[in-house]
Amino acid sequence: MTTGGDFRLGANCWGGTALDESRGIFFITTGSPKDNFMGVDHHGPNLYANCIVALNARTGERIWHFQEISHDIWDLDIPSPPNLTTITRHGIKVDVVAAVTKIGNTLLLDRVSGKPVFEFRRRRAPVSHLHGERTWPWQPDVELPQPFARQVFSLDDVTDISAGARESVMAKLIPGTSSRGANMGWFQPFEVGKSTAFYGIHGGAEWTGACIDPETGYLYVTSNELPWITMLHYLEQDEEDEASAPKSPGRLVYEANCLACHGARRQGLATAPPLLAVKYGSDKPTIMKLLETGRNLMPAFKHLSADQKTQVTDYLLGIEDHAKTEQKSQDSIFDKPPKYTFSGYIKLLDNEGHPGCKPPWGTLNCIDLNTGLLRWKVPLGEYAELTKRGIPKTGTENFGGASVTAGGLVFAGGTRDHKIRAFNKWTGEELWSAELPYGGYAPPTIYQVNGREHVVIPATGGGKLGGAQGDAFVAFALP
Ligand code: HEC
Repeated sequence: MTTGGDFRLGANCWGGTALDESRGIFFITTGSPKDNFMGVDHHGPNLYANCIVALNARTGERIWHFQEISHDIWDLDIPSPPNLTTITRHGIKVDVVAAVTKIGNTLLLDRVSGKPVFEFRRRRAPVSHLHGERTWPWQPDVELPQPFARQVFSLDDVTDISAGARESVMAKLIPGTSSRGANMGWFQPFEVGKSTAFYGIHGGAEWTGACIDPETGYLYVTSNELPWITMLHYLEQDEEDEASAPKSPGRLVYEANCLACHGARRQGLATAPPLLAVKYGSDKPTIMKLLETGRNLMPAFKHLSADQKTQVTDYLLGIEDHAKTEQKSQDSIFDKPPKYTFSGYIKLLDNEGHPGCKPPWGTLNCIDLNTGLLRWKVPLGEYAELTKRGIPKTGTENFGGASVTAGGLVFAGGTRDHKIRAFNKWTGEELWSAELPYGGYAPPTIYQVNGREHVVIPATGGGKLGGAQGDAFVAFALP
């Protein structure tokens, strides 16, 4: 589905769907157009990506659509399923569809007309100077409902949990000896050879979505706040360039051991990141160590000799004599329109691996959909080691979602500390928590047995946050 451009992938439905049975309207929410980070192959607003779409449930015909971000190059999907509820505006009941988004907006639309309940303001957006890119001139800058996550990363946001943390992040953002600095700002486009730091790839909201208390019209949403940093690179025009060049010892080690995952042109495949820019984000000792230990889905390479490890590392860092091939690819850039690749999904982290922005890094939020006001926001999750150092609760990146009960509780899991927690639905006060055997990466489900309420959560670990994996379901009886 697209207007214009050679649309190859994307606008997938991440979060799910919802059906208004009485009206026969079927709602879907859609993800970002692909490729992420570069829109040179998908010019235009890219309908119906980043949209809530209302379809006639019987015929599949489109009734209306509403796009949050046009020509999205930041991977800012609407990741969550639509929620259907009824709110009260100026004393009148309105049936609405709501969807929480990765930049922290709550899209709130009249279910029949598709019109926003609150003014949905758009502003002039920055223009890309990338050859072939045409960023969209307008992007959303919404006041109500109040955003539940920070939307613009800036130097003011750089972490302050310790001097060391701050320095390590500043070094990646300010031009200096170890980096070329980074671009930041509202809907900042990407550049070749210089990083852009921004919020949103893991939300804001995620596919776990939001829940709504029908009694009050309050929406509860779990959110992440952590910055990412990536840059574009020219992709070699001619695959033969590298293939026909005399192969260095490092390239040979690469082809035998690494190419299957990282790609012939080091462009990255599936979960294996591109290795085109490692020289900007890594160094020789780090890569040598990684080859020794492995990490997550990256295997260890203990069978390689020390020489082979050095050779492949030098190859990746571009310390081998490459002058010739590089000259050639620079020339060809001007013959044909350039093609790009990006350095990968890289989190902007501090020296200890915590998010590079000021806490909170994970939150539970309550938004009154009748007024659009954020009623409360509390940190979700805890790093015990930081609490011990006297740092107020930071929350952690989380992928769990929340569920609200008629009895006035909000349950949420999904945090790095593998806990499930209960909060007071009016105040956000944390009332209870229990440790799960593995991360609980789904919204808790509430059910009744013989009149007694229970809550159950699948605790499987793994996923986006890594860590041990299992297959537990943990249920608790409520008092
Ligand atoms: C089975 C697939 C696979 C193979 C084979 C593989 N890698 Fe990886 N590699 C990965 C994955 C997945 C990651 C991301 C690891 C993570 O989650 O941190 C990664 C990460 C890396 C990184 C870190 C990149 C960064 O931006 O931090 C480097 C460097 C790297 N690999 C080099 C190599 C080299 C050199 C080889 C060959 C000797 C190799 N890899 C073979 C899958 C693979």
